[in-house]
Amino acid sequence: MTVHIGAEKGDYAETVLLPGDPYRAKWAAETFLQDVRQVNDVRGMLGFTGTWKGNPVSIQGSGMGMPSLSIYVNELIRDFDAKTLIRIGSCGGMQPSVKVRDVIIAMTATTVASPSSTILREVNYAPCADWSLLRAAVDAAEARGSKPHVGGIYSSDTFYDERPDLNEQMVRHGVLGVEMEAAELYTLAARHGRRALAVLTVSDHLQTGEALPSDQRERSFGDMVEIALEAAFT
Ligand code: ADE
Repeated sequence: MTVHIGAEKGDYAETVLLPGDPYRAKWAAETFLQDVRQVNDVRGMLGFTGTWKGNPVSIQGSGMGMPSLSIYVNELIRDFDAKTLIRIGSCGGMQPSVKVRDVIIAMTATTVASPSSTILREVNYAPCADWSLLRAAVDAAEARGSKPHVGGIYSSDTFYDERPDLNEQMVRHGVLGVEMEAAELYTLAARHGRRALAVLTVSDHLQTGEALPSDQRERSFGDMVEIALEAAFT
């Protein structure tokens, strides 16, 4: 048991998928895993463990934003020995070449501030994905007929950002999309010698204002779960 996870040691697999939304965790576990059991419901942040093609896998909601994700990832690493952590979620598109529904596999995640800023202080640390996972996810996406964008994303700590100039600088510097969790996930994984990746679907676009209808979000989410599972066990 940890402060935020009411499970016993051994209840989580070494591979953990991390959607922001706990109900997505439930849907993904029930849809893609076998022998599923719920392992956490503290604060409604649902977690599940089952198997995929015989491999043990957990799917744990991370909540929204880096402070929330940091809580779950710290506890999963420290107390449940998670070794491969893959965020699956949505992002806002930032480049004209990136369209709604496209998949982004995040090579790096820029941020202004994350929970790790307190220890990194003046250092502009460059959070980056695990190469073996990144390559496997690209292969898995391409095998499914998807052409993923691979590059840098921006992990914002403000959804309702009052600084439009910051987004403009991200766009100018080739950032593909904006979300709110990956930079802290990559930083924690690096600190503890674990593997991490973020696989994202573009759910809205900052330049065009287009947004994915909710019925289509589920299908895109399912694609990401399968890409993440393939990548984890390649
Ligand atoms: N997640 C999905 N769309 C987003 C956006 N526009 N900004 C931040 N996070 C997001």
